[in-house]
Amino acid sequence: MPNGPDFSRSDKVKVVTADAAVANIKNGSRVFIGSGCGEPQHLIHAMVKDATIQDIMVFQMLSFTLDQYLKDTDFLERFALKLFFVSIPMQEAAFEGKIDYIPAYLSEIPHFFRSNQIGLDVALIQISPPDQFGFASLGISVDVTREAVRNAKLVIAQVNPRMPTTYGDGFIHVKNVDFLVYFEEELGEHGPEAQDPEITRRIARYVSELVDDGSTLQVGYGQLPYSVLPFLDNKKDLGVHTHMITDAFLPLLKNGVITNSVKNYMPDRAVATFCMGSREIYDYIDKNPSFYFGTADFVNNPGIVGQNDNFISISSALEVDLTGQVCSDKVDRMFFSGTGDQTNFIRGAALSRGGLSIIVLPSTSEDGTASRIVATLGEGAGLATLRADVNFVVTEYGIAQLQGKSIYQRVVELAQIAHPDFRASLIASAKRYRYIFADQLPPPAKDLIFIEEYKSRVHLKNNKVMAVQPLLPSDEIAFRNFFYSLKKETVSLRFFADIKTFSRKMAQSHWAQLDYRKNISLIGVVRNKGNKEIAAIGTYSGCGNRRAEVAFVVHDDFHNLGIAGFLLEMLEKIAADNGFKGFRATVLPENKSMLHVFNRRYPDAKQHMRGGEIEMVMDFGQ
Ligand SMILES: CC(C)(COP(=O)(O)OP(=O)(O)OC[C@H]1O[C@@H](n2cnc3c(N)ncnc32)[C@H](O)[C@@H]1OP(=O)(O)O)[C@@H](O)C(=O)NCCC(=O)NCCS
Repeated sequence: MPNGPDFSRSDKVKVVTADAAVANIKNGSRVFIGSGCGEPQHLIHAMVKDATIQDIMVFQMLSFTLDQYLKDTDFLERFALKLFFVSIPMQEAAFEGKIDYIPAYLSEIPHFFRSNQIGLDVALIQISPPDQFGFASLGISVDVTREAVRNAKLVIAQVNPRMPTTYGDGFIHVKNVDFLVYFEEELGEHGPEAQDPEITRRIARYVSELVDDGSTLQVGYGQLPYSVLPFLDNKKDLGVHTHMITDAFLPLLKNGVITNSVKNYMPDRAVATFCMGSREIYDYIDKNPSFYFGTADFVNNPGIVGQNDNFISISSALEVDLTGQVCSDKVDRMFFSGTGDQTNFIRGAALSRGGLSIIVLPSTSEDGTASRIVATLGEGAGLATLRADVNFVVTEYGIAQLQGKSIYQRVVELAQIAHPDFRASLIASAKRYRYIFADQLPPPAKDLIFIEEYKSRVHLKNNKVMAVQPLLPSDEIAFRNFFYSLKKETVSLRFFADIKTFSRKMAQSHWAQLDYRKNISLIGVVRNKGNKEIAAIGTYSGCGNRRAEVAFVVHDDFHNLGIAGFLLEMLEKIAADNGFKGFRATVLPENKSMLHVFNRRYPDAKQHMRGGEIEMVMDFGQ
């Protein structure tokens, strides 16, 4: 029975039971149902149980409650489900043809309703109890529901005291509702699924390298993007402009990492379009002015997204092919999730000043038998993001930066972040498809595997952390840029000559036909708006004897932070693992800094003057 303000005397609004309300649904109606955890469960059950209701076409974004009826043939005869997104419980039904999937950007669904492209006879929604002015909130499901209410001929609302009141575009006046049904029940809940913690941790660490303090985040639908969030707890003043709020945001909100305070667009508020999670997050967003829940055509619109400076979209993929095409809605012949708004947020990130987008995915299927970096997308795979739109791709093996890169460079980048077991076959396919040509350097697959374990991080004397990794073929452009950023004196100290240009031949000499066990370069990497910049290089090369030649260049901006010392230690480890007993180096006598680094690690080093240069012989393990 009604337990809220009495609107029953209003001319239009009628407070009734669910059975009485759904009795007004005419046969043949097109019925919109509120989405996700905001589904009006009580109304849905009442509609299904009323056997007189026949031939109904249901439109819904995220559907959960109807799942329990999908084995009932009578239900399937009476209700045709058209879903904009295939949630996990609905995947089998979609595969068996029991339900239909409508590929659509969520941001465009309101337009379908407005333009009558999808005409609506009825909207079943759920709202908070109306306030003294008659306004109720769509709470956790503003998304496409707001526009459905505006366009449906008949609106039936379940008034549920457990629906939070959210600020933004989700208020509707009860005069726009035909029937109010007061019924209290717990909202749908959506918990995280278990992820491989080690893979998540490794992916999150790479994502963290790309997220600067003060960035505004969008986190895409799916478990992996959300499980990256806890690893951003060392960031400052993050903002949120996303489609879905979940519990995963709570720790960052509560410990002050997400403040929304430096956002330039809609500052001081986390902007979203719906919320799915537990009671804890529902209580947190209730009447909380630091959230703004807007409609999907506003929040997810790339033009709006792009107004956020330093906007970072983090979303997931099922597969990425070697050219960068992203599949997110279909595996083999099974529809899986939906187009969603991944592309909109990625396009928005491209429009944002300082923005970037990241696709995260584990390198293999859960059982490890299939690579998710693939030579070509599987038969029937749905393209969510085009190769021209894709930017960063991150697996547990690293970061591939694809935007602005040629097909060859993409192959190299992506092969390096594929699981080691699949790298050789990916490279072989790339050659077969003529993505890599004979005059281009093929990444040596066996060496890529070997060097994987030599990725590390150095804590600098300025309290920053720098990623250290082996120099790979994909680093050619960054290496080139590094060379040209060095001062003339630095170049001559390193190369003992006035080298003016960095030829392709010279670059290739760092990789071509390289045996990485005998020759390896480690680079210190910094990211500037995600772009990889080399800050230091340490190299050893074996020349047939058991002492390898070692040399370093650290960019002038990073001197005396401990980088060369760290690289030397790492190079020694790799060299020792590969049978070398020591290093040799040639140093100019005025190069006090280099001499200091060597003498500190090898106090018993032998030094000889030859032609005005000091030749050092440094043996390990002393
Ligand atoms: C030499 C070079 C690689 C050192 O790199 P770096 O990352 O600055 O080195 P680190 O920070 O690890 O160590 C530098 C050490 O030298 C010390 N140092 C610097 N200037 C010095 C000087 N004039 N006299 C004595 N010690 C000096 C620093 O205090 C530091 O020692 P500490 O850590 O004990 O305090 C860098 O200066 C460089 O790239 N130079 C140009 C290229 C070059 O000379 N390459 C060597 C060719 S073999």
